[in-house]
Amino acid sequence: MTQKYLDKIEAYLRNCFTDDQPQKILFESMRYSLLAGGKRLRPTFVLAFCELCGGNTDSALPFAAAMEMVHTYSLIHDDLPCMDNDDYRRGKLTNHKVYGEATACLAGDALLTAAFGQLASAQLPQERIVEAVRVLSLCAGELGMVGGQILDMDAERRLCTAQEVYDIQSRKTGALISAACQLGVIAAGGTKAQQNAAAEYADHLGLAFQIRDDILDVIGDRDKLGKATGVDENKNTFVRLYGVERCEVMVAEETSKAIAALACFDGPDFLITLAKQLILREN
Ligand code: IPE
Ligand code: IPE
Ligand code: MG
Ligand code: MG
Ligand code: MG
Repeated sequence: MTQKYLDKIEAYLRNCFTDDQPQKILFESMRYSLLAGGKRLRPTFVLAFCELCGGNTDSALPFAAAMEMVHTYSLIHDDLPCMDNDDYRRGKLTNHKVYGEATACLAGDALLTAAFGQLASAQLPQERIVEAVRVLSLCAGELGMVGGQILDMDAERRLCTAQEVYDIQSRKTGALISAACQLGVIAAGGTKAQQNAAAEYADHLGLAFQIRDDILDVIGDRDKLGKATGVDENKNTFVRLYGVERCEVMVAEETSKAIAALACFDGPDFLITLAKQLILREN
């Protein structure tokens, strides 16, 4: 995937927490997952949309870091035995496998909390910060990611309709991607129309992204993915609904729709290339 913003993001995240505290183990566990080397897609969206709307990417770094913190917390909790019970994430043992379930829960809690501290610390006009808090809490909470996670768990016990599978994905995966794209526009002081266009790009790209995630669970390579494959057999995935071939077409279609949503921006080449790269991603 494209490297453009990665160095900035990694450097910022590395400096976010120091472990010179009595609760050293909590910091260690937070950093273990945060610095485990994910694709950094959500912070990349923040910086890319910020730049696209004429903003300064350095001033948007706290928003970018906040997105990666919320995302990492969601993964730590998603992997817990009471949820997906996974042993590997980002090519390493999952957080609870190393630090135990209680510490993993708390590391997730602390990352979520720190994310809002990051938003508040941004050197940006206050109304942009308030809007970022509103969007992130809406997208991460009971109507967004957390809401999607509970529907996803509930759906394990039965067969879902296509409409339900779309609704679950748009919350559990789409909502945080939408927050990331919107936060970039907000950081730059973009217009409402630009924020809506960013959300539309995110809705289609988020759907393509989760369909690809479901495809990779079936045809992906565990080593490249950094997480186990074949774990979604009893889940209501897009592959279960439509099969791998149809899903591949859907990924391409949704990516085209995402790209079309960028028409109102001047010079969206980076986000177009990124969307195209994600169609065939292997991790
Ligand atoms: C994994 O997200 C969880 C889903 C929403 C499918 P990513 O595939 O972006 O995970 P990392 O951040 O690269 O590890
Ligand atoms: C996870 O979806 C989405 C969130 C963590 C919010 P999955 O359960 O499909 O993600 P992976 O496959 O474990 O990364
Ligand atoms: Mg899950
Ligand atoms: Mg999972
Ligand atoms: Mg998955």
